[in-house]
Amino acid sequence: MGFEHKIAPSILSADFARLGEEIRRVEEAGADLIHFDVMDGHFVPNLSIGVPVLKSLRKITRLPLDAHLMISEPARYLRAFAEAGANLISVHAEACDDLPGIAGQIRALGARASVAINPETRVERVLAAAEHLDMILVMSVHPGFGGQGFIGESLEKLRAVRSEIERRGLKLDIEIDGGVKIDNIAAVAAAGANVFVSGSGIFGHGDYRKIIAEMRERVARA
Ligand code: DX5
Ligand code: ZN
Repeated sequence: MGFEHKIAPSILSADFARLGEEIRRVEEAGADLIHFDVMDGHFVPNLSIGVPVLKSLRKITRLPLDAHLMISEPARYLRAFAEAGANLISVHAEACDDLPGIAGQIRALGARASVAINPETRVERVLAAAEHLDMILVMSVHPGFGGQGFIGESLEKLRAVRSEIERRGLKLDIEIDGGVKIDNIAAVAAAGANVFVSGSGIFGHGDYRKIIAEMRERVARA
């Protein structure tokens, strides 16, 4: 895996009344992953979608499903998401005590394991568990809502994560999530991310194929 660039549309900004069609459209437009935001109204001040929706989507797309669990006590729901068809599961460092332990549980369920950190959480917290992870997710907004502005300090965090995992010779993916758009994706790539979540930056655009192709071109040149 390593540094392959992957574009991950966040369906939080899709039209939920036509979700299957929206996913087919981004799949045809060249998306690499489907980013699936789960919110519990407790870990974040919003509610979104959960296991039954993921299970239905599993039947209509071949793309890997990237489940981002913005929930308290994520360990209670890992099995349900894995069995519903999540390929990659991100839990939040702020919601877990034992990161290697929860990563091991995710892998034992057959999914790839990832830990997300909020803007106020230090990179050291997740780097301490990096050997147990397939991906690190750096949040560049406060989780809970699509369409927020990118927090500039996140670039420094990406650089710190990238240089440390390279220093240790690890091959994990680095995902960035929040406020990623065509005008900042090159900077985000240059700072070290290789998996780019974009919700409003893709679904807010009329032509998914064009915007995904342009994003890919900019990260390739970064
Ligand atoms: C925010 C979610 C994001 C969100 C990104 O809490 O985790 O995945 O959908 O949306 P944009 O790209 O619009 O910031
Ligand atoms: Zn997300």
